[in-house]
Amino acid sequence: MILITGGAGFIGGNFVHHWFERRERLGLPREQVVVFDKLTYAGNPATIQAQIASGDAILVHADICDRDAVRNALATHKPRAVLHFAAESHVDRSIHGPGEFIQTNMVGTFTLLEEVRAYWGAMETADKAAFRFHHVSTDEVYGSLSDTDPAFSETTAYQPNSPYSASKAGSDHLVRAYHHTYGLPVLTTNCSNNYGPYHFPEKLIPLMILNALDGKPLPVYGDGLNIRDWLYVRDHCEAICQVLEKGTLGETYNIGGINEIKNIDVVTTICRKLDELRPRADGAKYESQITYVTDRPGHDRRYAIDPTKVQRDIGWRPAQTFETGIDHTVRWYLENTEWIDTVRSGAYRDWISRNYEGRQG
Ligand code: NAD
Ligand code: DAU
Repeated sequence: MILITGGAGFIGGNFVHHWFERRERLGLPREQVVVFDKLTYAGNPATIQAQIASGDAILVHADICDRDAVRNALATHKPRAVLHFAAESHVDRSIHGPGEFIQTNMVGTFTLLEEVRAYWGAMETADKAAFRFHHVSTDEVYGSLSDTDPAFSETTAYQPNSPYSASKAGSDHLVRAYHHTYGLPVLTTNCSNNYGPYHFPEKLIPLMILNALDGKPLPVYGDGLNIRDWLYVRDHCEAICQVLEKGTLGETYNIGGINEIKNIDVVTTICRKLDELRPRADGAKYESQITYVTDRPGHDRRYAIDPTKVQRDIGWRPAQTFETGIDHTVRWYLENTEWIDTVRSGAYRDWISRNYEGRQG
């Protein structure tokens, strides 16, 4: 049994899918997961509905800041590992309202660490040696690069620029301190921008796909020349599985696919893919919907990951290029209108109360 915080979100939800598919592919026994999730606007149980229905996943609807709920989940389900995805994750929201980010990303991570420390401390020796706390973090903790700076490595100094990245940097430091001070067996991964299925449409790629299909403007911030290093979400999930299995305790690993792309090029790629797969009825090109808008305050210019360490020490490599990953992603959004409707209408909120309130593991 493993416990996944934030397992109803974008990456955590994809991780649940990946976990079972991978174990089957490798001939490993099925291993149940507990998804511990507050189900904020970004958490959607529809993403992991099949795993919940089959009993592979148990959903605990709770907040990582709730110490009793964390303690209870650990005591009830006795996981051999905790994978910590839960966070407030959207930079724009952190600019408008940083409080929730400090609460979940820092206080929540602290609360989780405290309870995990007590749980781990009380384990039998063999279980204690095998236990892992895997902290899922971001490349944004390193700050912003100029066009000529070398990519972020694990030794790059932390220089977070947004309330989001500062709160994630704080959580990384706490995780590190719990290893250094208490010996908690931790692993941290700092990943670049993910994209793929089940991505909440406030983030660049799903927002552009859905706005394009709706005939709405495609809002490009500033000059559109900011650079992100894109990684298909399942490649990130595989990296987490491999670091969990082979990572050295207390170490951090940067995860990225060497796919630096300017925002405007991401948007035009999506437009061309849609022109090919779902041409506009009026014959116009989707690029005509691109609109330059006021820049994000403090907008980081460039992120880039140097993945040498994870490639060399763990042996991980991404399976998807941006070309293949964006093709899967655009097709997924064209085909999965039911999931998109749950997100757009907020219908899954009613569904949560009908299906899960009072039936939590
Ligand atoms: P997301 O916003 O899609 O999902 C976050 C999940 O956490 C949701 O299910 C939400 O309900 C849950 N959650 C939020 N607050 C909670 C709380 N207090 N208690 C319990 N659950 C709570 O985020 P994501 O994009 O899937 O990111 C997951 C993790 O990966 C985050 O830690 C993020 O910092 C990190 N990360 C994301 C990216 C990316 O490109 N999306 C890249 C690198 C790292
Ligand atoms: O680098 C990893 C990070 O990537 C994660 O830690 C974050 O959780 C995740 O949200 C993501 O952060 P970004 O700020 O890079 O992602 P976002 O999708 O919000 O924006 C990507 C780029 O596109 C960024 O330069 C801002 C720009 N943008 C974004 C939106 C939503 C636009 O130009 N227009 C938009 O409408």
